[in-house]
Amino acid sequence: MNTKTSGGFSITNYHNVSEIYRQLDTLVNQAPHPIRRKDMEAYLEGFQKKYASSKPVIEQAMEFIPGGVQHNLAFNYPFPIVFDRAEGAYLYDKDGKRHIDFLQAGGPTVLGSNYPAVKEKMLKLIKNTGPSTGLFHEYELKIAQFICEHLPGVDMFRMLGSGTEACMAAIRVARLATGKKNIIKMGGGYHGWSDSLVYALRIPGTAGFDAHGIPRASRKYTQEAFPNDIKSLERRLRKNKLSGRGTAAVIVEPMGTESGTRPVDYEHNQQIRQLCDRYGALLIFDEVVTAFRVGISGAQGYFGVKPDLTVFGKVVAGGYPAAGGLGGSRDLMEYLAAGLQTGKKRAMVGGTLAANPLSSAAGYYTLKEIKEQQACEKAGAAGDRLTLGLQQIIKDLDLPFVAYNQGSICHLETTGTMFMPINMKKFWTIPKTLKEIKIRKHMMEEMGAAYMMEGIVTLAGSRMYTSMADTDEVIDEALSGFERVLSKCK
Ligand SMILES: Cc1ncc(COP(=O)(O)O)c(C=O)c1O
Repeated sequence: MNTKTSGGFSITNYHNVSEIYRQLDTLVNQAPHPIRRKDMEAYLEGFQKKYASSKPVIEQAMEFIPGGVQHNLAFNYPFPIVFDRAEGAYLYDKDGKRHIDFLQAGGPTVLGSNYPAVKEKMLKLIKNTGPSTGLFHEYELKIAQFICEHLPGVDMFRMLGSGTEACMAAIRVARLATGKKNIIKMGGGYHGWSDSLVYALRIPGTAGFDAHGIPRASRKYTQEAFPNDIKSLERRLRKNKLSGRGTAAVIVEPMGTESGTRPVDYEHNQQIRQLCDRYGALLIFDEVVTAFRVGISGAQGYFGVKPDLTVFGKVVAGGYPAAGGLGGSRDLMEYLAAGLQTGKKRAMVGGTLAANPLSSAAGYYTLKEIKEQQACEKAGAAGDRLTLGLQQIIKDLDLPFVAYNQGSICHLETTGTMFMPINMKKFWTIPKTLKEIKIRKHMMEEMGAAYMMEGIVTLAGSRMYTSMADTDEVIDEALSGFERVLSKCK
């Protein structure tokens, strides 16, 4: 571990991973426990009334926007709600109704939404430079310097437009640097939607299941290992070595796939690092969710593991647009040098609006505030309070649901949808499993709608991001809402 500041972390006690998997196994091995039909119908009827003014807007949007909403996470059941205002822990819908915001824009807003100190800087900046010039702005240096000073695996930083772009850049650099092609990811993990990484999404073992519209050739060199299973990764690496083709990189979400939904043992990342070194593969940490949420030095600071390349997104622009970036050791990052003079072959990346003054400055001031305000620790304490409260409710109601958290990343599994095992080898079992997944997915949507009716916005009815703005009062109010919903489950 090098000497870079590690700072505080959002995680106080690392969770008991085998106990979580034991509970999740129990959950998926029994029939689902949905909200009683009568109660769910009352929620849905109430939803139509409570959000009546959002409905026509969404219906109109269906005419012009595929699916009615632009953002995957805004696709709420039975219809999306139109939001007007975001402030700290709360969102306000079109009618001014207040909601506790555990979506937090999908993760970027560790300080809480629309944080005033950053907003003021942004307003001033817009007055001076406007949102973009295409030329160098000093905030590009400020944010790069801050990141290089705080992330153990980052000597240089290149800002990009999104996490998806940054993942693409990471594997391009890895292939260029190693001269190899194979990329191993963990089954179920998400690394954006580029052709080669739409592979084994959400559920391990599903390979090209979601790769509609993507030629098979694009995923020819993408492989998966089973999450939290070091032996499965070693088997892959060994196979690639024996084939003579080797492995360019192993890319992982360090907290576990789908933002820690499938958690990993504490020592897992260290073991991956050792395997990568043994087999000559680069290690890429996808810290799109974890960087500056788990801690100012990222999950790499927390686990004490130095990756070769680090992918950034979300918090890196503080919730402002164009959030992406790649960091790594100097020798690797030089493959991304702009201009012609590097003497190395260049990994082509770009982006008209990448590193615009707005995203660079928003990211810089957000990261500075996160550090000064100890926002990761505060958001993590809120996540602990929420999770402990949920665990108590689940216990009191004697339900098989599972609540766990990695600091401010909180999971509430009521259906276990992503844990349904799809066995591609026993292909004849797939239709039955898919049917079961569909039922559980719909239950998840209904849970999300019920939480919404209790004034709580979640991510897909199963994940909650907490922020520094979540005081004990906010969390306790949310817990009362969750209790009302869960007490209606049969
Ligand atoms: C771990 C991870 N990697 C990559 C991405 C893609 O980032 P973006 O949505 O900015 O393209 C996401 C987005 O949720 C993510 O969670």
